[in-house]
Amino acid sequence: MSTQALKPGEARNPGPSTRETILDDSRPVPEVLTTESYTYMGSEDIDYSVYTSREVFDAEMEKLWPKVWQWGCREEHIPEPGDYMVYDVGYHSILVVRTEDRSVKAYYNSCLHRGTQLKPSDSDGMTDNFRCPYHGWTWSLEGDLVDLPCDWDFPHVSKSEFNLPEVQVAIWGGFVFINMDEDAMPLEEYLEVLPEHFENWPLSARFTSLHVQKVLPANWKASQEAFVEAYHSFETHPQALAFAQNNNAQYDIFGERTHRFVHTFGVADIAWPEKQSEQDILDAMPSIPDGEKVPEGMTARQFAAEFQRKAVGEMFDVDLSQRSDSEMLDSIEYHLFPNMFLFPGVALPMIYRFRPNGDDVDSSIFDLLFLRPLTPGEEPPEAPEAYKIGIDESYETVPGIEKWLGHIYDQDTANLDMQQKGFKATKKPGQTLGNYQEVRVRRLHMTLHQYLNA
Ligand code: FES
Ligand SMILES: [Fe+2]
Repeated sequence: MSTQALKPGEARNPGPSTRETILDDSRPVPEVLTTESYTYMGSEDIDYSVYTSREVFDAEMEKLWPKVWQWGCREEHIPEPGDYMVYDVGYHSILVVRTEDRSVKAYYNSCLHRGTQLKPSDSDGMTDNFRCPYHGWTWSLEGDLVDLPCDWDFPHVSKSEFNLPEVQVAIWGGFVFINMDEDAMPLEEYLEVLPEHFENWPLSARFTSLHVQKVLPANWKASQEAFVEAYHSFETHPQALAFAQNNNAQYDIFGERTHRFVHTFGVADIAWPEKQSEQDILDAMPSIPDGEKVPEGMTARQFAAEFQRKAVGEMFDVDLSQRSDSEMLDSIEYHLFPNMFLFPGVALPMIYRFRPNGDDVDSSIFDLLFLRPLTPGEEPPEAPEAYKIGIDESYETVPGIEKWLGHIYDQDTANLDMQQKGFKATKKPGQTLGNYQEVRVRRLHMTLHQYLNA
């Protein structure tokens, strides 16, 4: 077929598709990984003001964040009654707590007397109750007002009507989701395809082994969009083309709130200049120790997957023998609107979250978690504190992140300062997106637009 005959969105990079590579697997692959679900969504430019304008930022605070399901913490952040964690998004602040009966509740983090936060922003800990630091009004973990100092002066306050107002809570995959909208659709429905797809990869059977938090110098949307396409790999991560098929990444749109990309590891990209032997590809893979040899009759991809089955299986005492090469190695990345990324893979087991940084339009907070497999029958250990790195600090300095991966995060985040500045320096008013490789960026903006114009 000539290029002219193709409709917009139908063109693809030459070479084997992600699906073809995955179908070559040494094991049966979950059906959801061999499904393609691309839809062309238009080619119009998207105005830069969504990243730079105070009005849009304020509209998001009013019409987006109070209306969407978003994860506040993992269950293993608050394992015991009295454990709490404060989740902040812009000026919104939500107190998430494990109650006496071990259920989870969430409250607006604001005293019903004169508004003081009951716990500081971005804090966590264990408590018997929520006692306001100002005048001492106190609520139980269940949200009942249990102490009102000098109550003789408040005959107009009936304790039973002064419960802490609740925020909706729902748990899925070990994540505690909150939603400030009392009329929100149930989380199960909000998640679209995720419950079905993640039946293959229950995230409640994993634990948080690492949590890194960094402020990024760009609007929260620009920051997360650095992670929704592999098109930037050519220029930003050229080293990865020796062992990852970035140009042939697959992009899937599943609904208004969920989409995915998949790109395969252990295969050289079609853009990699030299013809690679299987051994060359393995040697280029940073996650495989130097000196490993690809046996006769095996591909680098098969060998690397087998290596990881053993290494990760032994490290966490789990049986990975039936896991496909794709699940072991590939960058499989789902997105849940507005700001959550989920990687169900075994060697790349990340979760991301991007939020506004306080009131600042031009910066954001990036939480990066690693979810490792939980040994069957074991309870997850308590989640580690977030390891915070400064805006100019390298991910390579973080204990627990391999250097090569830290380097990739540095490359991804190094573009952001110049992009946020370039948004403002522009003559051209908006960005021009690729029809296929950048369709997830467009999907995000379309759904955002729906919320802001509701
Ligand atoms: S503001 Fe909270 S007790 Fe007064
Ligand atoms: Fe990247």
